[in-house]
Amino acid sequence: MNVAIIGASGYSGAELASLVAKHPNLTLSGCYVSEGSLDKHKLLSDLYPEHRNLLDIPLLPLSESAFDDINSSADYICLCTDHKVSVDLAPQFLAMGKKVFDLSGGYRLTSNDDYVTYYGFEHQHPELLNEAAYGLAEWNSSAIANANLVAVAGCYPTAALNALKPLQQAGLLSDEKVIINAVSGVTGAGRKASVGTHFCEVSLAPYGLFNHRHGPEIEQHLGHKVLFTPHLGNFPRGILETIYVQLKPGVTKENVSDAYQVLKNEPLIRLLADKVPSIKSVVKQPYVDIGWQQQGSQLIVMAAIDNLLKGAAGQALQCINLSMNLDHTTGLKGAF
Ligand SMILES: NC(=O)c1ccc[n+]([C@@H]2O[C@H](COP(=O)([O-])OP(=O)(O)OC[C@H]3O[C@@H](n4cnc5c(N)ncnc54)[C@H](OP(=O)(O)O)[C@@H]3O)[C@@H](O)[C@H]2O)c1
Repeated sequence: MNVAIIGASGYSGAELASLVAKHPNLTLSGCYVSEGSLDKHKLLSDLYPEHRNLLDIPLLPLSESAFDDINSSADYICLCTDHKVSVDLAPQFLAMGKKVFDLSGGYRLTSNDDYVTYYGFEHQHPELLNEAAYGLAEWNSSAIANANLVAVAGCYPTAALNALKPLQQAGLLSDEKVIINAVSGVTGAGRKASVGTHFCEVSLAPYGLFNHRHGPEIEQHLGHKVLFTPHLGNFPRGILETIYVQLKPGVTKENVSDAYQVLKNEPLIRLLADKVPSIKSVVKQPYVDIGWQQQGSQLIVMAAIDNLLKGAAGQALQCINLSMNLDHTTGLKGAF
């Protein structure tokens, strides 16, 4: 299959381009940036010298003629673009009969009202919101395999949902809100410079209190209320979540451990039980590491991922593999 990447100069796009270029069943057919991009016609490997030889491929402007080129050369389109850009581009590629994998949040929520509240715009294609398959690879594989539009799960939600869905499915959660404290490295904010992500400004601080867009995404796909607070940390990549869960009365350590067995055969999920995950263990790795400890009915679950791999490009590749009926770990497990 031939894959075109839109937004290839960004952090998640470049990561995905490198995975596609190394994949045994995929060809990277084109890498695109906006029509007015300062990076147009540069080689992707000029921006990311670690990919010299692998990604000596030009960044092409997404002009009108580029759409024709993509139509004739690509089977799969990966949108590694801002939410609004993705909302606009996805239907155009779907109309060409392409399969679209969107790494933005543009198609992850089902309610148009939530787009107004959490994304600050009226969704221009609400008819597609129920058509998009949610790209949480280990939990939604058949919908992903059959969908033309895959809304690859968000980075924080990927860690939270893999940590919490086993407990939710086993009926162990009490009615209380689950409290999720999360820290992300600065690549989570994308490659564009801003004061908030400036080397001298970043320390460790919460943001998006009560209104971060990943809160409703987690609730929608978990089926349980959460209080989600992200923090920006002064390191480049990785996410660590510490999650406070009130269990139903009488839930034992064995019940919790049994619930996590639903993930025990998943190659990209590492169950650490009472060991503590860390960002160091997952950076540049395609895994989710999940640990937990319990005292009475209070459970603390910890989850760590690389935001650019399991939280973005790695999971997008899992979704592409599922679409091709390949093992979803193809090109990921043992590739780093
Ligand atoms: N970073 C993460 O950890 C992460 C994790 C999960 C999901 N995501 C999501 O993935 C998407 C990309 O994130 P990112 O962090 O990789 O962003 P980024 O580093 O800011 O990259 C955005 C890319 O989109 C290009 N672009 C901008 N406007 C465009 C247009 N109109 N047409 C074509 N290309 C355009 C940019 O290049 P030019 O501006 O030069 O054109 C750049 O290549 C976002 O929706 C983000 O929320 C990111």
